[in-house]
Amino acid sequence: MPLIPMRVLLDHAAANGYGVAAFNVNDMEQIQAIMAAAEKTDSPVIVQASRGAREYSQDAYLRHLMLAAAELHPRLPIAMHQDHGNSPATCMSAIAQGFTSVMIDGSLTEDGKTPADYAYNVRVTREVVQAAHAKGVTVEGELGVLGGIEDSHGAGLTGDEALKHLTDPAQAGQFVAETGVDALAVAIGTSHGAYKFSRKPTGDVLVMSVIEEIHERLPNTHLVMHGSSSVPQELLEIIRQYGGQMKETYGVPVEEIQRGIKHGVRKINVDTDNRLAMTGAVRKVFAESPGEFDPRKWLGPARAAMQKVCEERMIAFGQAGQAGKIKPKSLRSMVTFYAKKAK
Ligand code: G3H
Ligand code: 13P
Ligand code: ZN
Repeated sequence: MPLIPMRVLLDHAAANGYGVAAFNVNDMEQIQAIMAAAEKTDSPVIVQASRGAREYSQDAYLRHLMLAAAELHPRLPIAMHQDHGNSPATCMSAIAQGFTSVMIDGSLTEDGKTPADYAYNVRVTREVVQAAHAKGVTVEGELGVLGGIEDSHGAGLTGDEALKHLTDPAQAGQFVAETGVDALAVAIGTSHGAYKFSRKPTGDVLVMSVIEEIHERLPNTHLVMHGSSSVPQELLEIIRQYGGQMKETYGVPVEEIQRGIKHGVRKINVDTDNRLAMTGAVRKVFAESPGEFDPRKWLGPARAAMQKVCEERMIAFGQAGQAGKIKPKSLRSMVTFYAKKAK
């Protein structure tokens, strides 16, 4: 089946009480890993590419790889999403490249680093919603600013500064009403990358109550958790065992994500865990077989390690077993849906 709008997947997830992992990709092996995991677990798929990923892989390669995924897995519903679009222009170029969903991250200005004011966020998000919905494409917005120090999409906020920029549940209602976004990314204390927490976080550190309050106010808006890698200790250990340097660090426990899913979280962004898994696998091959120089011999294990992480998340988030139950909808039918909603 052709790539489908992400909204179709999120609506099904909401109606059936589960979440869908959105995995970042930059290359063929990562796309293959996700698709193999989805095939094995009968899962709907959200593949997402950051601006950096699009630059690295080049849009045409990425587009054709995604078309190959759809051709090789005709039973599986797949959405292709622009992660952290920094401007309407980025989102429009993604749509022109066949992405069926875009994130406009108006919580930051176009540089992707400076916290933006509310009026700016509403203005750019509305602009993208109007243009994207006219083509049936799903839109994710963001309110509040994610924390984190090693973040290519963030203001580098930590501690009290980060807490000041958590999503305000009252403002969330206003933002969704003013912009018409399909999905809302919320800041609840997570950050991108491997170094999220110096000890295993509790629900309080993560401020899960913000998600619960937003969901109470906006039961029909799909919530998105960014920075949701769990940073498994065993993956850090493999990297260390084979010569890598990873400091002590903790991610978002899967059980906290599951708690979020009970309160409206439908899309869960995971990139770092796959990076860790692939890196550990490659290091292992190089350490154990220093004479190896056939890229398939290290890319293959890296792909298999990522597949394992994807399968585990698909099962934990509840999307496993759902692919065959989803009725795909075309972008065209979503155009009609949005037009009716606007009346
Ligand atoms: O949002 C962050 C993702 O991990 C993508 O990161 O910009 O390095 O591709 P990236
Ligand atoms: P992680 O770095 O926790 O995997 O988060 C990825 C993400 O939020 C992409 O938008
Ligand atoms: Zn993110």
